[in-house]
Amino acid sequence: MAVALFTLFAAVGWSPSPLHRRSVPTHVDPSTLVLRRGASAVMHERGIRGALRARLVGVGSAAPEQRVDNHQLARVVDTSDDWIVQRTGISARHLLAPGEGLADLGIAAATKALQHAQVEAEEVELVILASSSPDDMFGDAAHIAKEVGCKNAAAFDLTAACSGFMFAVATAAQFLHTGHHRTALVVGADALSRWVDWSDRNTCVLFGDGAGAVVMKTAEAHQRPGVLGYEMRSDGAGRKNLNLGYQGPSVHLTDEAEGEVVAEVTKGEYQPIGMNGKKVYQFATSKAPQVLREAIDAAGVKVEDIDWLLLHQANIRIIEIVAEKLGIPMSKVLTNLEEHGNTSAGTIPLCLDDAVKQGRVRNGDVVAMAGFGAGLSWGAAVVRWEGPEVEVESGQEVEEAVAVD
Ligand code: ACO
Repeated sequence: MAVALFTLFAAVGWSPSPLHRRSVPTHVDPSTLVLRRGASAVMHERGIRGALRARLVGVGSAAPEQRVDNHQLARVVDTSDDWIVQRTGISARHLLAPGEGLADLGIAAATKALQHAQVEAEEVELVILASSSPDDMFGDAAHIAKEVGCKNAAAFDLTAACSGFMFAVATAAQFLHTGHHRTALVVGADALSRWVDWSDRNTCVLFGDGAGAVVMKTAEAHQRPGVLGYEMRSDGAGRKNLNLGYQGPSVHLTDEAEGEVVAEVTKGEYQPIGMNGKKVYQFATSKAPQVLREAIDAAGVKVEDIDWLLLHQANIRIIEIVAEKLGIPMSKVLTNLEEHGNTSAGTIPLCLDDAVKQGRVRNGDVVAMAGFGAGLSWGAAVVRWEGPEVEVESGQEVEEAVAVD
């Protein structure tokens, strides 16, 4: 694999060179810069978004303690464990309790990711929170950054629903690739339990709350790039199939003394999540394989080179169909939706964290990831995982492998 990648980079003229923060260092050979610009032009002409000099070096996750399994949910709405498991693969979900916040999950996940990466919070220069359900509509990223101790970071929220984490990784990778920022924290977190109608069995059984985070760093001159290829897409024409739309009652601004209505505005309120399940299912099973193929092409790898497929955890049937379309066996597919359901922007890093901590995803493994959801939006990235290995208690790895096979 490594040889194949090296050959590809050599073919397109890519060569790692040290770009330092906010200025081009004097020791860079100008011919290297010309060569790299040439390579990027070639990639652009061929419509390929190539590797980015960004590495994923640590992961962490968090979920609320409150756990509701299908049997418990069947006491609340007209559903059954059988129906939910067969149609979705979900057995349980974790839900924020009153007094708990989305930012709390983000802070916990981010703290663990930094510990795992052995990176000091002060080193972080960029914090991106992918979320559609922040505690504060103005954004939670700055709050998370402060609580985690990232006092040198610029922080902002990014909204792309269930594609949010993928879009945030691609965004952070651009900053890291230029070398203008060298360490980033990317958090994916959602609390859709706040926004589903708990009397609507079509939607409420699907979602849970959770967060995951990765630490990303610039790949130095002597290091291989970690984001091998990516692709992002969106199509607003499909937004009606999955939305969390604003719809507030009107409010009159009145001049009480004159008894006159000066203006009419609306109060801030949202409707619960609306979804056409079948349309979203069709969208996901057609677009996810497509965008993954594009990212795999961009990475210059073959499907056989992919060690793990990690899809947005929406529905096991969607995951199985996408894997089958790509010719990737289920033994290489990572899932944890049985325990967490769909945590929107949280699913991919949450599942990655589980897989790394179980010793399944190892340092150097190539992981193809894809997110898809509201917007509509969809995106994929092929990354090389470069986080520290975790001690796994004997027997645990085998147990997990058997469970997924
Ligand atoms: N329990 C029991 N019965 C149910 C439930 C339930 N929770 N929900 C629906 N049903 C019933 C329906 O009423 C219907 O009954 P009917 O035949 O008498 O009319 C029957 O089950 C079949 O319903 P379908 O909607 O046809 O079921 P389907 O097999 O399509 O599965 C599902 C529904 C699971 C929602 C599927 O369409 C799906 O996964 N779609 C994608 C959803 C998704 O991934 N959404 C999140 C996107 S991520 C984001 O951006 C937030």
